[in-house]
Amino acid sequence: MAFDIDDLNFERLSPVGRLMKSLIVNPFANYAPSGFIKGLLRFGKSELAAANWKDPGGWRSMVISYNGRCRQIADKVLVNGGIMPMALRNRRRLAGRVLATLIDSCPRPSVHVLGLGAGPGRIIMDAMGASSKPSVATLVDISAEAFEFGQSAARDEGLDKRMNFIQADARDVGQMLENPPDLVKMIGICEYLSDEQLDGIFEAVSEVMPRGCAIVVNSLSDAHGTDRFFRKVFGLNMLYRDGSCLQQLMSARGFGDFVAIDEPLGVYQVIVGRKIRDN
Ligand SMILES: C[S@@+](CC[C@H](N)C(=O)[O-])C[C@H]1O[C@@H](n2cnc3c(N)ncnc32)[C@H](O)[C@@H]1O
Repeated sequence: MAFDIDDLNFERLSPVGRLMKSLIVNPFANYAPSGFIKGLLRFGKSELAAANWKDPGGWRSMVISYNGRCRQIADKVLVNGGIMPMALRNRRRLAGRVLATLIDSCPRPSVHVLGLGAGPGRIIMDAMGASSKPSVATLVDISAEAFEFGQSAARDEGLDKRMNFIQADARDVGQMLENPPDLVKMIGICEYLSDEQLDGIFEAVSEVMPRGCAIVVNSLSDAHGTDRFFRKVFGLNMLYRDGSCLQQLMSARGFGDFVAIDEPLGVYQVIVGRKIRDN
């Protein structure tokens, strides 16, 4: 299946910008004493840093990175100039388009989208708003706070009647659904879970998905060049898996026919798989 992404307004780095990052910005971020950088971020009242210190890589840091309109100078620098927040916004645009295309091409009259580790549901709301076919969503997350925020955003966009929020561990997906999903979205969660945890989720999800239905996940590369900064300053330990590693994990649970699409900074790939056989 082809996904038309030519018109997406991706963020890119110029060759000079890339050189500056690799020669100056990233070495400073990675190797300046972490206590010094944390002090700077505390002094600058960085909301992105505070969100990560409270919940490393949690939904709130996604909301700040997606939004891009920051009050504090420290955040303007981190969120608008950092490769990772730029790549996150690219991933949001790409995944939103891919999901909207999958909703529109689904043969069912109304499409049931299941979001696992969905946070407030921003990407699913983007996709539902951009697609022309009727759809409803079940959003699963372990954080109740994400849902309070998501429900309010859904009301603002007139989507609240179409979204059902469930506070639960994604691994228990088999026990919580009234209707099987037509499309499963796992963007922004795989990089926080071990192979065993991911396998448990792919197994549970494969059991509730009818054959032919699509699952959407993302890979993660360390091409952003600031992993040491994220670990030492934000306490964020992400797991790097390329597309083939994820495809291997999914294949073991009955998925195949994979399509992988890169966002232009080379940090994320959005991968679409289909349920092709029962476990
Ligand atoms: C980085 S955020 C991504 C949010 C959203 N998917 C996005 O891309 O904007 C990761 C989310 O996964 C949730 N999460 C992590 N482990 C989970 C689990 N085992 N079950 C359900 N949610 C989980 C966190 O609470 C958080 O909201």
